[in-house]
Amino acid sequence: MRTLITHGTIVTASDTFQADVLIDGERIAAIAESLDGPADRTIDASGRLVLPGGIDAHTHLDLPVADFASADDFESGTIAAALGGTTTIIDYATQYRGETLGQAFDTWRRKAEGKAAIDYGFHMAVTDLTAGIEAEMDRIVAEGVTSFKVYMAYPGSLMLDDGAISRALARAAASSALVCVHAENGLAIAELVARALAEGHTTPRYHALTRPVELEREAVGRAIALAEVGRAPIYIVHLSSADGLAEIRRARGVQVLAETCPQYLLLSDRLYDAPGLEGAKYVMSPPLRPPGHQDALWAGLASGDVQVVATDHCPFTLADKSRGRDDFTKIPNGAPGIETRMSLIYDAGVRTRRLTLNRFVDVTSAAPAKIFGLYPRKGTIAVGSDADLVIFDPERTVQLSAAAHHMRVDYSLYEGRSVSGVVETVLSRGRVVVENAAFVGRAGHGEFVRRASGTPAPLS
Ligand code: URP
Ligand code: ZN
Repeated sequence: MRTLITHGTIVTASDTFQADVLIDGERIAAIAESLDGPADRTIDASGRLVLPGGIDAHTHLDLPVADFASADDFESGTIAAALGGTTTIIDYATQYRGETLGQAFDTWRRKAEGKAAIDYGFHMAVTDLTAGIEAEMDRIVAEGVTSFKVYMAYPGSLMLDDGAISRALARAAASSALVCVHAENGLAIAELVARALAEGHTTPRYHALTRPVELEREAVGRAIALAEVGRAPIYIVHLSSADGLAEIRRARGVQVLAETCPQYLLLSDRLYDAPGLEGAKYVMSPPLRPPGHQDALWAGLASGDVQVVATDHCPFTLADKSRGRDDFTKIPNGAPGIETRMSLIYDAGVRTRRLTLNRFVDVTSAAPAKIFGLYPRKGTIAVGSDADLVIFDPERTVQLSAAAHHMRVDYSLYEGRSVSGVVETVLSRGRVVVENAAFVGRAGHGEFVRRASGTPAPLS
């Protein structure tokens, strides 16, 4: 199958130019000012941008939480991702206490196989680091799972102490793998939560009040210190605050990479003031921050101190959220976002001139590909790269709404918000999976991608 995309404006992290793109099978075969096939199918991209498929490096599909799970599984979640212009996700496989990493890997492969509509990789969240598990980290890297996650939050379940984090950093560095860090001080948060509940404070607002900015700043600083001592690179996930960003800027002698998410760029903690359960929609960790932090994060993205925008997509329905009606600690943490990332960042980043068009492609696709061992197979438009492409209409405007989205969740963080910049057509390894903004792919098309290990390629 040969597909020709004509008259589009190609945008990569480094270049913007008019060209045609010829796809042969799953790969890009030629890029030139004018190509005339032969092709089985021609797509006219006049007036459109042709972007490398988005890479969402932080998702939680089918994540077990208490006696239920995040609302999107690998089928619904990856279909929503494709509709939003994302062609690869990296989901967090999670080792629960008492499990081996191999068991967690098998569990996540079973969740994804036959269901994913786009390509997927896994990070491995390590929550129980015995000597045997340390040795197993090397084997997981050899399987193409080349990044790990450690939690400094959630004591008693997911959190690792500083000793275990140091060991994880050393072991990962020895096999050139990267450690992703959820940086919040879990023990101090637990004290604040206990005090709030003892004082009778049960509303969603207290989720934010018990997870203050200072405890992200402290944890980011501590994670960097551990990385510096261990001479191991780290990647801070879902950075939410100016204070955490300031710590990253102070790092010396070790590569400290960072990701933020649309919700931390666009929303503030004022949303927790809404009455009743409304505030529960925004209960996520870290929480939304006071006005002011959002501008700092945009500046961090523009300057390159923050390299990636991912989603931390971890959706729960309003019924799930209502479990915390009388106790904010029972509200499942997480929010939907896998479908809206590209349009939101284009609209709020490029159209406002906070980000150049090339920087937009960088933070949504090229940088996560480079950092997580997918480049240049993914994350760019080049001969030989996977034909993961998005044809994007920069002028069309839509209104975001739960009634229109495809995420399996009955609310949107951005209900009623207009965004200009809309995904029209998406190709995943050469196959059209979205056409006229409708899903035309199939569950099971997505393949597990083995990622390379090694120092992240130079970032632009
Ligand atoms: O609130 C969040 N972020 N839920 C997902 C799990 C995590 O902490 O990343
Ligand atoms: Zn997460």
